[in-house]
Amino acid sequence: MPPTVDDASSNQRVSRVGRVAVVGRGRLGTALSGALRAAGITVDGPLGRGATADGADVVLLAVPDAAIRAAGAAIAPGPFVGHLSGATSLAPLTAHHAFSLHPLMTVPAQGPDVPATDFQGVPAAVAGVDEDALAVAGNLARALGLVPFEVPEEDRVAYHAAACVASNFLVTLEGIAERLAGTAGVDRAALVPLVRATVENWARLGAREALTGPVARGDAATVDAHRVEISRRVPEAIGVFDALTQATRALAAGAAREEPAGGPGMTTVRTVAELRATLAAHRAAGRTVALVPTMGALHEGHLSLIRAARATSDVVVVSVFVNPTQFDDPADLAAYPRTEAADVALAASAGADLVFAPAPDELYPTGFATTVSVTGPVTATLEGAHRGRGHFDGVATVVTKLLIAVAPDVAWFGAKDAQQVVVVRRAVADLGLPVRIEVGPTVREPDGLAMSSRNVRLGADDRRRALSLSRALRAVQDAAAAGSTAADAREAGLRELAVDGVEPEYLTLADPATLEPVATLDRPALALVAAQVGPVRLIDNVTITPAITPAAAGAAPTGAR
Ligand code: PAF
Repeated sequence: MPPTVDDASSNQRVSRVGRVAVVGRGRLGTALSGALRAAGITVDGPLGRGATADGADVVLLAVPDAAIRAAGAAIAPGPFVGHLSGATSLAPLTAHHAFSLHPLMTVPAQGPDVPATDFQGVPAAVAGVDEDALAVAGNLARALGLVPFEVPEEDRVAYHAAACVASNFLVTLEGIAERLAGTAGVDRAALVPLVRATVENWARLGAREALTGPVARGDAATVDAHRVEISRRVPEAIGVFDALTQATRALAAGAAREEPAGGPGMTTVRTVAELRATLAAHRAAGRTVALVPTMGALHEGHLSLIRAARATSDVVVVSVFVNPTQFDDPADLAAYPRTEAADVALAASAGADLVFAPAPDELYPTGFATTVSVTGPVTATLEGAHRGRGHFDGVATVVTKLLIAVAPDVAWFGAKDAQQVVVVRRAVADLGLPVRIEVGPTVREPDGLAMSSRNVRLGADDRRRALSLSRALRAVQDAAAAGSTAADAREAGLRELAVDGVEPEYLTLADPATLEPVATLDRPALALVAAQVGPVRLIDNVTITPAITPAAAGAAPTGAR
């Protein structure tokens, strides 16, 4: 807490509060008038809005934020005039010797079962246009039993945001918990002791120490199961759940990182020069370097790549850069989630040593005019055909720049972006870049949805419809394994998409190395799908292993002797 405002700062003129008028007959005005009277202070009010409060030494405006200016204008200059808002500066009261006093307390509506608000020991933020006004605010607070502390004007918004997160958002969360418990037949009253104990633990131990539960334990299976049920039962809360899961992982990862693990600390660098300087020492010591390129908003798919890199290289670099040149849709670029603080914590928890998070002009300086463009069928089909080849120009350019900047021994990519892998391999081979490209498997939610940073933008209904993509791919896989032709296997996939009214941009079978269409299932192939589901364009793919027919296996057909 910032320094408290103590009596020593008040001078003679303001050392006593005098006669106080309270303007505003709402909850806070009523509660404060009562508390001031109980403290032996002469109080006028609570008065109605627009009161002139004649004869008062101090006027306390207990009115809504938007009404402070008008309520202050009704008071003739002379007394100290203060408001009780956490969010509002002193600007609306410039005509006065202004102060503010914001008790960090919620005051519920009065009723027969509601005890009078007890302000004893409650911290209160105070501000004043000068020392006298600040001293009045402090004295008034102390008379109420509050503990005043000062918040500089430039920090007021941040202070108030913290108060709202701590209080209002907590209520929103409990509302969600209440609705979810209700779907399981559990009354909200059953949650109350848990909530109280949680808040007490947090107060006593701090956020990291008080954190418990499956996200903190790294129990991904339980978290996934929760997610599926929440999306079924309280779909409107899934965005909140996802954001909090990510923030909780980052908090838990931060806690783990601060433990004296003895390993090297995690560093974030923003420039290529810093990156090279940091890696030079590792290289000099003969250590191998792995790069995991990402656009941030890390999920389990990225973390599995980081873990694989950790297991096989000495130094793991994760790049976090939302690459503008690979977005064909400006709205998609604008909506792309940016969660750097959480990403850094998650990358560290998965074993990264270094995060490279450059600003756009570090990779694309003014006048940038060079593009790495992989041409031919590899970029002309599928994503290239639907997003435009500029997408892969953007990918190939940024990946090449990252490979030159990091100069890793190995770079890791996810199998979900199958065409990207083919394009990157082509560029690396053509440019003779000395790096090995490794591919990690697609990581899926328990219900089959391929993990993607864009999934957080799916509403509950679209999240459900999105499952048709993985279902369709499985249908193609199953049909192929049962001996169907490529065309029939594809039809089986299209039927699954149609169940949820999802219109594919493509659903196709292709050669895994060249991405050329596969018409005959006589060897392993990729089944790839892309579709717009609500606001999000999704892609997915699986490997198809066709039934080995005797002919395909080279055996003599039965009966042909
Ligand atoms: O796959 C991604 O996230 C991006 O395309 C990549 C490889 C990081 C390039 O921006």
